Amino acid sequence: MHTSLEKHLDKFIAGRTGIKMFFPLCGKTVDMRLLADQGHYVVGVDIAEQAFQEFFIDQNLEYTEEPLKNVDGKLFKSMDGRIKLYCMDFYLFTKEMEGQFNAIWDRGSLVAINIEDRIKYSQLIQEVMSPDCKYMIAAMQYDTSKFAGPPYNVSENDLKELFPNCSVQQFDETDRSYLFKDRAKKYLSIQ
Ligand SMILES: C[S@@+](CC[C@H](N)C(=O)[O-])C[C@H]1O[C@@H](n2cnc3c(N)ncnc32)[C@H](O)[C@@H]1O
Repeated sequence: MHTSLEKHLDKFIAGRTGIKMFFPLCGKTVDMRLLADQGHYVVGVDIAEQAFQEFFIDQNLEYTEEPLKNVDGKLFKSMDGRIKLYCMDFYLFTKEMEGQFNAIWDRGSLVAINIEDRIKYSQLIQEVMSPDCKYMIAAMQYDTSKFAGPPYNVSENDLKELFPNCSVQQFDETDRSYLFKDRAKKYLSIQ
C-alpha cells in the first residue's frame, strides 16, 4: 500500500465499513485490491485499457468486460462486484454513473493533469463527494523555477482554491529531495 495511505488509513476510513471509494486516474494501483479486500467498494477511472487488463491479471482476479452505454469506453468489473474500473476519459465521467463516494484517494492524478484542466477536474470530484467524504491526495511541492513538471506542483493554497467547500489539512510531509534534486514531496489531505 502507498506509504501515506497506509499511515493515514484510519483517518481515511474513519471507522466506516463497506464504504464506496473513488480512485480517479487510477492506473493499475494495487491499493484498489487491498481496500476491496478490506470490504470496501472501489471505483476507478482511467483511459488506459491495458492498465486494467494488467491489474486483473496481476491480481489474479476474474473479471467481466462490457461496453459503456452512453459514453465511449468499457467497464471492467471483478466477479464479486467490489472493483469497478471505468476505461474512459475522466472528464466524461458523471455522478449518474456511480453516485457519490465516501472516500477518494488521489495519487498521481491531480498532479498529473494539465494545469488548465484543474478546475474541470475539481468540479467533477466535488460533484461525486458524499457529505461524509474524506478526500486524500498525495501532492508535490517544489520550486517551479527549477522543475516545471509533470508531476505538477500542487500547493495547499491551490487545494483551498480548487476545493473551496472542503477543509484542507496537511497530514504528512516527506522530503524526496534525495530522489529529485531540490524537490520535496508533501502529502496533503482534504476533508
Ligand atoms: C501518473 S499516472 C497515475 C496512475 C495511478 N494513480 C498511480 O498512482 O499509479 C496517471 C494516469 O492518468 C491516466 N489519465 C490521464 N489523462 C486521463 C484522462 N483524461 N482520462 C482518464 N485517464 C487519464 C493515465 O492513463 C495514467 O494511468
